[in-house]
Amino acid sequence: MTVLHGKTVIVTGAARGLGRAMAAGLARAGANVVGVDLPGQPELDHAAKEIGAAFLPMPANITDARECARIVDAGRARFGAIHALVNNAGVGMQLINPHFASEPTRFWQLTPEQYRNTMENNTTTQFLMARAVAPTMIAQQWGRIINITTSFGTMVMAGFTPYGPSKAAAEATASIMAKDLAGTGVTANVLIPGGPADTRMVTDDRSFPDRTRLVQPAKMVAPLVWLVSDESNGVTGRRFIAQSWDEALPAAAAAAIASGPVAW
Ligand SMILES: NC(=O)c1ccc[n+]([C@@H]2O[C@H](COP(=O)([O-])OP(=O)(O)OC[C@H]3O[C@@H](n4cnc5c(N)ncnc54)[C@H](O)[C@@H]3O)[C@@H](O)[C@H]2O)c1
Repeated sequence: MTVLHGKTVIVTGAARGLGRAMAAGLARAGANVVGVDLPGQPELDHAAKEIGAAFLPMPANITDARECARIVDAGRARFGAIHALVNNAGVGMQLINPHFASEPTRFWQLTPEQYRNTMENNTTTQFLMARAVAPTMIAQQWGRIINITTSFGTMVMAGFTPYGPSKAAAEATASIMAKDLAGTGVTANVLIPGGPADTRMVTDDRSFPDRTRLVQPAKMVAPLVWLVSDESNGVTGRRFIAQSWDEALPAAAAAAIASGPVAW
């Protein structure tokens, strides 16, 4: 499968979890991948070894706008252009409470620093990376911005501040991006797993004792490859649910079933 031959995709949070699976899947489909994750993550080097020359590892903290610019410059220098951004990096409720689902933390129990840290890593990062890639995509009249958010229920679930609000803001941002980018050849869409996924973000084994029932990270790949491909030209302002994507169907039919309008 080389449908993405010649495309270069930035994937943030690529060292592990959904990001790692998406980076590997994009490379299998023929894309070059700029894989971003926090400095000091040995798994980013493991990803580079596993994926090979198509993967450029970029250790960086993308809460810093200068780092976002550096990533785009490095990707263009290595691969010639940037065609897509997968805004995937983020932090979950497990950072605040490993038993976040069975013993929820109420909003008044959070520190201001915990709230700000999640908003910075989940929401501000998506804006900063999109801001850094948009001009080059608009200039080449082709691009994809794909924000990973979460299920609507999670955004408003008791005990899910600040994760829920951080993802609701990311969802709203994707909707505005699609409108702001209308007519440029650059699209903005949302992709979500469609349920708790089998990654290190989901630590609460009291609530999730059987990990085989969680969404497997590989489910993200088929909708993502289609979204990055030329086949999805003109598709913008949509949210795609990976768990609802039927790989047995032609991609356009799977996309119609697995998607709805972004945001509300
Ligand atoms: N796991 C789930 O159930 C689930 C469900 C819905 C949505 N999501 C979303 O999917 C995305 C991926 O999550 P995951 O489950 O793979 O989690 P994960 O913790 O395995 O991976 C997230 C990665 O993002 C990186 N990251 C965080 N902040 C960063 C920063 N400032 N700069 C660079 N890298 C940074 C982390 O180091 C980590 O490698 C997140 O946006 C998450 O909110 C996850």
